Amino acid sequence: MLTGKRIGLIIGGGIAAFKVPELIRMLRAQGASVTPILTRAGAQFVTPLTISSLAGEQVHQDLFDLTRETEIGHIQLSRAADILLVVPATADLMAKMASGLASDLASTLLLATDKKVMIAPAMNVRMWDHPATQRNLAQLRADGVLIIGPDQGDMACGEFGAGRMSEPTTIVQALVAFFAQGPLVGKHVLVTSGPTHEPIDPVRYIANRSSGAQGTAIAAALRDLGARVTFITGPASVPPPENVTVIRVQTAQDMLNAVTQALPADAAIFAAAVADWRVTNAATRKMKKDGSGQMPVLEFTENPDILATVAQRSTDRPPLVVGFAAETHDVDSHATAKRVRKGCDWIVANDVSPGTGIMGGTENAVTIIDANGSDHWPRMPKAQVATQLARKIAAHLTKADQ
Ligand code: CTP
Repeated sequence: MLTGKRIGLIIGGGIAAFKVPELIRMLRAQGASVTPILTRAGAQFVTPLTISSLAGEQVHQDLFDLTRETEIGHIQLSRAADILLVVPATADLMAKMASGLASDLASTLLLATDKKVMIAPAMNVRMWDHPATQRNLAQLRADGVLIIGPDQGDMACGEFGAGRMSEPTTIVQALVAFFAQGPLVGKHVLVTSGPTHEPIDPVRYIANRSSGAQGTAIAAALRDLGARVTFITGPASVPPPENVTVIRVQTAQDMLNAVTQALPADAAIFAAAVADWRVTNAATRKMKKDGSGQMPVLEFTENPDILATVAQRSTDRPPLVVGFAAETHDVDSHATAKRVRKGCDWIVANDVSPGTGIMGGTENAVTIIDANGSDHWPRMPKAQVATQLARKIAAHLTKADQ
């Protein structure tokens, strides 16, 4: 997805630099070329040999070597890239950037460039929270620098809080989104997918036959049109798409929490086959046969309806909410009623009765139902349903923008 893109990678001096080799490997796997620029402090954490071996290019470290060679080496270096990426962006590098210092090769390149700059900050939570860093961050934002993260979490220094560098997958995804083209560039779309698992005891659960194939294909198709996709999936049997944010959950309740946290979104597509009930009397220890001949009795509680909850939110309701309806009979009438009951804009209805082979299969035959009526699509591969649906979503969102 990054084929032919040239990344100027500035490696700052922080413990998070240990993630840089993995990042370089991922960028190259996506087809990008990486020109590494290692700061003096960065070289304390990763060796030039590791970096050059993985990047397949020479590591640039010294401002004066370059200028001696070509007089304007740093200018060329800063312009040859399609984007400059600073990973990890330390408090020191951010301060230099915010005040326009050019005291070493990295800061000079950042000042000399005419390209977009993206940074992934990483530092101790107190350094991150310090008014000086926050002031520099605001300045960098105002200067048009793209900021990825930082995340909350445990830190190498033993503290907990904001300042942990985003994972390489998130950084790659931000780059893919930056270079993406298509009608959904700049849009955030949320997709739920797969079954949920509702525990009976620590080793047993209630599930359903959903493979996650249709939701996965939809997420990939939306991504291909340029959307930033958050993909919230239960334990599916197909792998999630690449270059989307994947959030894995087990239960309906977990899925609802993940969806709520991922808002706001421009559109939300609820393709998951969520369990309608969970076991109220789930055991915390494995249930054993006790030889008495007495069978366990499971009690159920209704799960929250994720689609209805989001569709009926008073704040943060995505402008387009799309539900699915898995039906085994009277598909159109049940799905039409479901659309109204749940409060979503469109319902994608499909007949999942056993003879159709749709649930867990590779093809689907859907009917799209909105406030104006229904549109029957012929049976086709799930990937094609996904492409058509993604195009319809893109057309709707771009029309709404006009
Ligand atoms: N859904 C949801 N949360 C639930 C149940 C369903 O978000 N707890 C969503 C599904 O992702 C799908 C839609 O609601 O988009 C309809 O799912 P479906 O299983 O067809 O409907 P049910 O709500 O289970 O209704 P019924 O039992 O009447 O078939």
